[in-house]
Amino acid sequence: MKDGKHITLAIESSCDETSVALVADGREVLSNIISSQIDIHTLYGGVVPEIASRHHLTNINAVTDEAFAAAGVTPEEVDLIGVTKGPGLIGALLIGVATAKAYALAWNKPLVGVHHIKGHISANYIQAPDLEPPFMSLVVSGGHTSVIDVKGYNEFKVLGHTRDDAVGEAYDKVARVLGLGYPGGPKIDKIAKEGNPEAVTFKRVMLEDGTLDFSFSGTKTGVMNYVHNEQQAGREISVPDVAASFQQAVLDTVVAKVMSATEAYGEDKIVVAGGVAANSKLREMLKDACAKKGIRLYIPAPILCTDNAAMIGCAAYYQYQERGADDMFLDAFANLDLENS
Ligand code: KG4
Ligand code: ZN
Repeated sequence: MKDGKHITLAIESSCDETSVALVADGREVLSNIISSQIDIHTLYGGVVPEIASRHHLTNINAVTDEAFAAAGVTPEEVDLIGVTKGPGLIGALLIGVATAKAYALAWNKPLVGVHHIKGHISANYIQAPDLEPPFMSLVVSGGHTSVIDVKGYNEFKVLGHTRDDAVGEAYDKVARVLGLGYPGGPKIDKIAKEGNPEAVTFKRVMLEDGTLDFSFSGTKTGVMNYVHNEQQAGREISVPDVAASFQQAVLDTVVAKVMSATEAYGEDKIVVAGGVAANSKLREMLKDACAKKGIRLYIPAPILCTDNAAMIGCAAYYQYQERGADDMFLDAFANLDLENS
């Protein structure tokens, strides 16, 4: 406890960010240090799992020290340790879980393993202090695209998910084809502002009637074929136009699905989470759609959309309140079901 507040130390290492945070009473961020490996992985055009694990190992203690110093908290004041247990890159996750266990054992503190997507959704509790479940959540990241009915802090019903690529993955792959580099999402977001979203019509894959599942590989392949055909014909492509047209096709389906889920399940709030929630066009389209239907929209600040430990600290706090601590057999999982974790 510090100043009468419950203190959570949180660790996130599921992909290419090593992050450690200190969070008070579940929602107040005292520090949120994020050490990104993007510059290293850019050399390879994507995340190299083995390199990610090695960098987590090298960085994690220094990032932890920095988080304590920035928060002005001491290890004795920590009440709970939360860590991402999955899904993600297994080697990367193991570094976080092993570190969290070591601190829990050394300092005699309770330990909680958190689902990464629960963390992304929880970023919204930090951003909006009054937000409470139930609500409809749209999770759009590099590894996930799902529509989830959030019934409680620890109760989730996954209504639909992608059958192939995640939205962020499609962005990253299209960016690579367009020569924009890694990670592609922010680059497409930026360059699309200069393009015409109606310049090229790419497929909007809605799948069969009534499903809330997504599919983006057809749209992605459409872009690849278009670029290839234009190059074969010796025609110059407009990168801003292709980026804007691809983005419009993908986001049209994303927004349509989450709006229909919200209506069908009678929710009055939409909560957006994951790295792609930082996308300016998605934010604008959802704002318009929600305003028309009288639905309240919650989207975290961009720094809380991409991977960070503060969101894990928030999720760990609410998980601990309802379910208590995990034991020292806590493991990391590359694949992990949200509803039963
Ligand atoms: O949530 P996140 O940090 O990591 C995962 O859990 O996957 O999401 C990373 C993904 C990447 O695919 C990245 O390209 C995408 O989020 N992203 C964006 C934007 N910022 C990050 N996609 C579109 N527009 C953005 N502004
Ligand atoms: Zn993530």
